[in-house]
Amino acid sequence: MRLTIFGTGYVGLVTGTCLAEVGHDVVCVDIDADKVAGLKRGVIPIYEPGLAPMVQANHAAGRLDFTTDAATAVAHGDVIFIAVGTPPDEDGSADLKYVLAVAQTIGKHLARNAVVVNKSTVPVGTADKVRAAIAQELKARGADVAFDVVSNPEFLKEGDAVKDCMRPDRIVIGASSPQAIEKMKRLYAPFNRNHERIVAMDVRSAELTKYAANAMLATKISFMNEIANIAEKVGADIEHVRQGIGSDPRIGWHFIYPGAGYGGSCFPKDVQALARTARQVGHEAALLQAVETVNDRQKGHLFELIARHYDGEVSGRTFAVWGLAFKPNTDDMREASSRRLLQQLWDAGAHVRAYDPEAAQEAGRIFGQRDGLVLCESASQALEGADALVVVTEWKQFRSPDFARLHASLRDRVIFDGRNLYEPDEVEAAGLAYWGIGRGRSIRVD
Ligand code: UDX
Repeated sequence: MRLTIFGTGYVGLVTGTCLAEVGHDVVCVDIDADKVAGLKRGVIPIYEPGLAPMVQANHAAGRLDFTTDAATAVAHGDVIFIAVGTPPDEDGSADLKYVLAVAQTIGKHLARNAVVVNKSTVPVGTADKVRAAIAQELKARGADVAFDVVSNPEFLKEGDAVKDCMRPDRIVIGASSPQAIEKMKRLYAPFNRNHERIVAMDVRSAELTKYAANAMLATKISFMNEIANIAEKVGADIEHVRQGIGSDPRIGWHFIYPGAGYGGSCFPKDVQALARTARQVGHEAALLQAVETVNDRQKGHLFELIARHYDGEVSGRTFAVWGLAFKPNTDDMREASSRRLLQQLWDAGAHVRAYDPEAAQEAGRIFGQRDGLVLCESASQALEGADALVVVTEWKQFRSPDFARLHASLRDRVIFDGRNLYEPDEVEAAGLAYWGIGRGRSIRVD
């Protein structure tokens, strides 16, 4: 099928590439000319494992092209995806200006029947607004073209996006016409291995499904962080508690890892946006607000542990920070817990030597050259001259450090483990003090 994707950001680029990979003829359109020129040369603006070779191969095979020319792109597609950003505006609701601008562009150029697909995460009711924006433009130029608007939310995880896209758990399609559903089923047929993955429903239910999925996952994390904080106070170990509850299939093993709080481009934004939608229709979403509050508090928890360990005497100390990205396998630092921690350390007069395998450039962009920050080339370089180690992101390479070496490097011989990567007994046996999340009182070792 001939497909057009508006937006070569995270979602648009991954979706377009995977759809080309299964044989569709895909044109991706973006207003950023530099980005489009780069993509044509095989330069991928984001870090995502497996994506670059797939973009290059499909582009070379002629199935995937990039353009800034919206008119040609609209003319190309039997199905036109809107995959542009929906950043939160000041009050936490999703800002639809980019989505609606694309809808207008489609309306300006549409000359034959098409299905328009909302891929961006948008509040319930957005498909109606998209439909109205397209219809208005068609009317303005007296064009009589039939079109459908479909909601088809994405469930991609950063770092696993290509895999998630090529092997989806489910494909949610919200449409009001059987023809549109049929067309979407044909489009996704190559992904429907072994069993039916398409879940068809009405448009509003599909729109709400995306928020419900992310809010549920965020709720699991905040719940565990809440229990971790209780565990800390009562002298229990959350890691035992986690193992004690995860085997119940009703609870499950996934997304029950306590830590330094969730970040990224989805959970914080979507939980807030859903709470906001609820308020707009007269419902106070008490649970969603609590999920957000707990997460916000959790982002400050590592610093609390640090301040407690040092009896508030943090000024002048140097902290090695391992991990800046909001999670491993990405360079994304949006809403990352590291940002809160670094700010708190600086506010307290401390110095930071940070290392992240992928996010150094992003950190440089965010923080610039500033006192109190050295961006290091390696995990061991970050330790040079440091008093203590703080682990913020659970990159694989941080999982089994040489504790004897840490003992020799860290002047104050203490580790603050924001992702519970280490066994307290093992760390303490090496002569280091250990603070994890929800792991009871650490014994201080001199
Ligand atoms: C998420 C959803 O998983 C995905 O389906 C959706 O399409 C977009 O949002 P992503 O933002 O890439 O994906 O990150 P995810 O892997 O879900 O992690 C989100 C955050 O939760 C990270 O900061 C991670 O560290 C944190 N997390 C995750 C925990 O703190 N504990 C856990 O048990 C799991």
